[in-house]
Amino acid sequence: MTERVVVTGAQGFVGRHLVDRLLGRGDVEILGLGRSPDDRACFTHQLHRGHTRMRAPLPAEARARLAGERYRYRPLDLRDTAGLVRVLGEFAPTSIVHLAAALRDQPLGELLDSNVNAAASLLDALVGARLESCRVVLGSTGGVYGASDTQPLREDLRGAPVDLYSLTKQTSEDATRILAGRHGLRVVWARLFNLVGPGQEERHFFGRVAAQLTAIRAGLQAPELELGDLAATRDFVDVRDAADALWLLARHGEAGLAYNVASGRETRIADALALLIEVAALDVPVAVRAVARRVADVPRHVADIARIRALGFTPRIALADSARDVVAYYDALPPAPPSAPADAPIAIAVTARDDYAVEVSAGLVDRLPARLAADYPGRAIALITDSRVWELYGRAVVARAAGAIAPLIVPEGERSKSPERWLALIDELHRHRVDRRGLIVNLGGGLVIDLGGFVAASYLRGVDYVNVPTTLLAQHDAAIGGKVAVNAAWGTKNFLGAFHHPRAVWCDPHVLRTLPARDLAAGVAEAIKVALCGEPDLFQLLETRADQVRAAEPATLAELVRLAAARKAALLAPDPYEVDLRRVLNLGHTLGHALEVEHGHALRHGEAVAFGIAVATAVGVERGVCPRRDADRIFALLARYDLPPAITRDHAAGALRRLDDIRLARGNRLNFVIPTGVHAVRISPEVGDDELARAVDHVLARFGSAGVARTAGTAGTAGIG
Ligand SMILES: NC(=O)c1ccc[n+]([C@@H]2O[C@H](COP(=O)([O-])OP(=O)(O)OC[C@H]3O[C@@H](n4cnc5c(N)ncnc54)[C@H](O)[C@@H]3O)[C@@H](O)[C@H]2O)c1
Repeated sequence: MTERVVVTGAQGFVGRHLVDRLLGRGDVEILGLGRSPDDRACFTHQLHRGHTRMRAPLPAEARARLAGERYRYRPLDLRDTAGLVRVLGEFAPTSIVHLAAALRDQPLGELLDSNVNAAASLLDALVGARLESCRVVLGSTGGVYGASDTQPLREDLRGAPVDLYSLTKQTSEDATRILAGRHGLRVVWARLFNLVGPGQEERHFFGRVAAQLTAIRAGLQAPELELGDLAATRDFVDVRDAADALWLLARHGEAGLAYNVASGRETRIADALALLIEVAALDVPVAVRAVARRVADVPRHVADIARIRALGFTPRIALADSARDVVAYYDALPPAPPSAPADAPIAIAVTARDDYAVEVSAGLVDRLPARLAADYPGRAIALITDSRVWELYGRAVVARAAGAIAPLIVPEGERSKSPERWLALIDELHRHRVDRRGLIVNLGGGLVIDLGGFVAASYLRGVDYVNVPTTLLAQHDAAIGGKVAVNAAWGTKNFLGAFHHPRAVWCDPHVLRTLPARDLAAGVAEAIKVALCGEPDLFQLLETRADQVRAAEPATLAELVRLAAARKAALLAPDPYEVDLRRVLNLGHTLGHALEVEHGHALRHGEAVAFGIAVATAVGVERGVCPRRDADRIFALLARYDLPPAITRDHAAGALRRLDDIRLARGNRLNFVIPTGVHAVRISPEVGDDELARAVDHVLARFGSAGVARTAGTAGTAGIG
């Protein structure tokens, strides 16, 4: 009889190996479920090839097996119980192996969501689909035992988890036990221990060390490893053995019992390291530096596997063979392109390096040292920040990293976005001996993001960097898109710059609580711009939840950042290097930049953009392309956030004069972006001086002018009367 198996988390490390083992059997049909889109080439995680980060590819044979008809995949959020009922009802599985889980460092809310709520939803869906007889294996972790004195760890022991991840796994076991009892479901729990195997994540020992050893062998990294406690012991089990164990449990596990999925062998980390060094066949000695332990790093564990052994399980793959396969996996990663015949034309392919994710998660800044250590192990890390953000957050981050992060602090304010400051930072990085594998972390507003990004783009021809933006403007705008720059000595904004995309963008809404009201409003201005560029939900949020936004309420700001960042990402996707200069995202910026320079940077970037948006809207009304009703909503929304600030007539006149320089730089076309409604814009190649002058007059009259300034602009003649 053909078995029909649902595997959740099917594109993760264990999921992929389980699917592969099942496809190798021939009598199984599989439906994979998970949050990520269908992908037949890679795991969901990334890994390093030297200092390049890439999606972890599936081994070629596994890829080939996925192509067959017996495997299907559907992206689905498991908490969507109704959706699950439908999918399970259609597929009618005979068994389910649930492997979808959160990452260890996620915040508690997300851990509970992915580890507890999703598992509960799965059991509810089984009842909803009338599939009570389906056998269920719920993936859990050996971490539930914590630092137990009893060794080997027996399944009838009550756990004492020491980190939040394992705590939520224990809670998941408890909650699903109650649900299974209530509905008479056939559930077993599989406590997976330390898995080892090809393609594994670098958060785990074997993956992390194999990545570094192969990088050392290729000369891409100094022969140095940073590791935790070498005397600790672990129960390592090969992922392919674990996959077989899961399948055994799906068919023969006794409902109601928890099973350890492990090898039952205790191995010292030092011995595992020696194995890896041996199979990596290095010809240089490797120095090992000890780093602080994580909470989850209990000194010792080994599992009692009597229960699963009684079902006929014996681990077949020796640890030395696992180590060999993990190293071989790295060796088989796509090689450099082969050299061409001597007379062939030389093709130069320039491609974007790879994708990066924008993460919005409360408390990320608190977790920054742990996150950096997990995602960028063994890298020299420099943190660039400004003086104010240093006092608020940077100092604590660096203190918690216990010497692993070098701080580089610049004075707050746009004046630091200068060529001199950029050069001084390059000098400091050099003094700190940051090499090409080094990582720069930009912690701050748009100033730090632009300046630090340009440093990262130019230092040693480009090093990796992560943006941790701390202003609203930077979170949904400046930190995304890879535009990095400093201003010219003569004042032109962003004159010296590059495109250099970050490796990741990590946004923490909590840090926005300390942001001055003026900076919050400046960030809202850019969000209004994005809303006008086709994001009605964002426009609505800004209109209806202005009080929460103004109070920097984290959940509302998190939603705002997500909506605005997603829209920006969608608009940038077809053109990551902004070849097309007529971008709609320039709305409010042409005049805004000129005004900012005119003010000698006393005006916030977002404030200047708000003025630009208001003027562009007035142009739209005057041209008859923006209905007055929509324009009034845009003006009212700006006013709700005290935008734009009062601008003097002289400053406005000076900004208009500067537009001629911009026209010149753009080949005599201004490419002015004009709103045509509350969520639509169009680009007009030109806009007349008189037309602009009238629009500026309208905005000055509507929002107030701050009186005539003492100094007028410096270039050309005024464009308005
Ligand atoms: N690269 C891009 O795509 C892009 C897009 C938009 C803007 N920008 C650039 O960004 C810069 C403006 O960015 P900005 O408005 O974020 O300015 P900013 O970086 O100067 O920050 C504004 C002020 O807020 C302080 N601050 C930052 N985070 C804080 C926090 N959490 N709590 C309290 N205070 C905090 C800073 O110290 C500073 O005094 C401009 O140079 C602009 O050109 C770049």
